[in-house]
Amino acid sequence: MFKSALIQGASRGIGLQMCRYLLSKQTSVIATCRDPSKAQELTQLKIDHGDLLSIHRVDVLDENQMSEVAVSVGDTKLDLLVNCAGMLHPSGKGETSLREVDLRSLQTTLATNALGPLIMAKHFSPMLTKRTSPDKNALAGILVNISARVGSISDNALGGWYSYRMSKSALNMATKNLSIELGRKRVICVCLHPGTVNTDLSRRYHRNIDPAKIFTPEYSVNCLMKVIEGLEVKDNGKFFAWDGKEIPW
Ligand SMILES: NC(=O)c1ccc[n+]([C@@H]2O[C@H](COP(=O)([O-])OP(=O)(O)OC[C@H]3O[C@@H](n4cnc5c(N)ncnc54)[C@H](OP(=O)(O)O)[C@@H]3O)[C@@H](O)[C@H]2O)c1
Repeated sequence: MFKSALIQGASRGIGLQMCRYLLSKQTSVIATCRDPSKAQELTQLKIDHGDLLSIHRVDVLDENQMSEVAVSVGDTKLDLLVNCAGMLHPSGKGETSLREVDLRSLQTTLATNALGPLIMAKHFSPMLTKRTSPDKNALAGILVNISARVGSISDNALGGWYSYRMSKSALNMATKNLSIELGRKRVICVCLHPGTVNTDLSRRYHRNIDPAKIFTPEYSVNCLMKVIEGLEVKDNGKFFAWDGKEIPW
């Protein structure tokens, strides 16, 4: 369905699986990750798929890297941009109380999960808004920010995980803003929650969860792509779970 896509945060987990899914559909993929030399599975995808995949170094904490890559691939028309990279907390463990909150960890988590995706949108949205159809009402592209249900303010009944929750709420607000600005150019912008997925990010918490409720990256990405492929203009600026159900902000 998509001719070209950019997946940011493609070295592991959900981002890597998104690349696999899109390549299997013959979509041309620009994959970014902060250290391509360590992204072995992504490198294997490049060996398997050749020119259909290009890999670029982007650390979302470095705006220069984002702008340099945007210039180098800027002639491409993008149909889909997915900001996937994320972190729970620099220690790997979310805060359980205010005592555990520290400024540096808050800053790093907010910068990675919320500020980086917004700066990606700044540099790469011109590739999404490029028009290929003479029809002014035709959809230009889709921007997806991978958020998390715990970023929903109205869904927060448990507290804790200050850095992660705040970063995803900020990402949600950035997405809403983007949906208004880029929506004028017929780009749909949404946040998606992938479910609880068996990746490095959340693995340490899985022992407390019914194994049947933990998704493989393959299952989560199949569900997410079904949601993405079904998006319509009326969905712009919304937050959806893996099953297509809307999540309140
Ligand atoms: N897994 C879950 O249960 C779950 C639930 C809800 C939401 N999510 C969201 O899903 C998204 C993907 O997470 P995941 O589960 O696939 O986690 P993961 O397997 O731990 O992957 C995290 C990815 O983020 C990248 N990353 C971290 N900091 C970065 C930076 N500064 N610049 C560029 N890339 C950076 C990592 O790259 P390196 O390889 O270089 O470290 C890695 O590719 C995240 O946004 C996460 O919040 C996950």
